[in-house]
Amino acid sequence: MAEDLIITGNTKNELYEGLLPQIKGLITGESNQVANLGNICAALKETFDFFWIGFYIVDGKELVLGPFQGPVACTRIAHGRGVCGTAWAKNETQLVPDVDLFPGHIACSSLSKSEVVIPISKNGIVVAILDVDSSELNDFDATDVEYLTEICQWASDLF
Ligand code: SME
Repeated sequence: MAEDLIITGNTKNELYEGLLPQIKGLITGESNQVANLGNICAALKETFDFFWIGFYIVDGKELVLGPFQGPVACTRIAHGRGVCGTAWAKNETQLVPDVDLFPGHIACSSLSKSEVVIPISKNGIVVAILDVDSSELNDFDATDVEYLTEICQWASDLF
């Protein structure tokens, strides 16, 4: 079966509007967590060419690296540490326009300049986070948060 992504739209909003139904189509009917999280990352990376995008999954008192696209990354992050661990501990999205100004930011790559991290929760408990990094400062906004949050709500069904 062909699984080509069709990328249409000029604005960020239009790109997400075109992408979300395709992501929904990719994950509907498949319950495997790795397969679906992998395809979500690939679809977002292909559309927006993010520097790094991936999931970290709660594993006891740490987050462990899950499916991702981009350069190799830190494998484990402690609860409350860095942007990812903070999103987990607070169960709140972290929109970081300049990672150097975020206390405790974990620099998996010195090329990462801005970041958005969205918690994925199941019955109010965080089970994973989605982390997106850009090599540009101030690259994420409320539009990214809105659409990525919707994707994360679908992803919570995989836990
Ligand atoms: N910067 C993140 C670590 C993960 S990497 O960016 C892939 C953080 O501070 O939690």
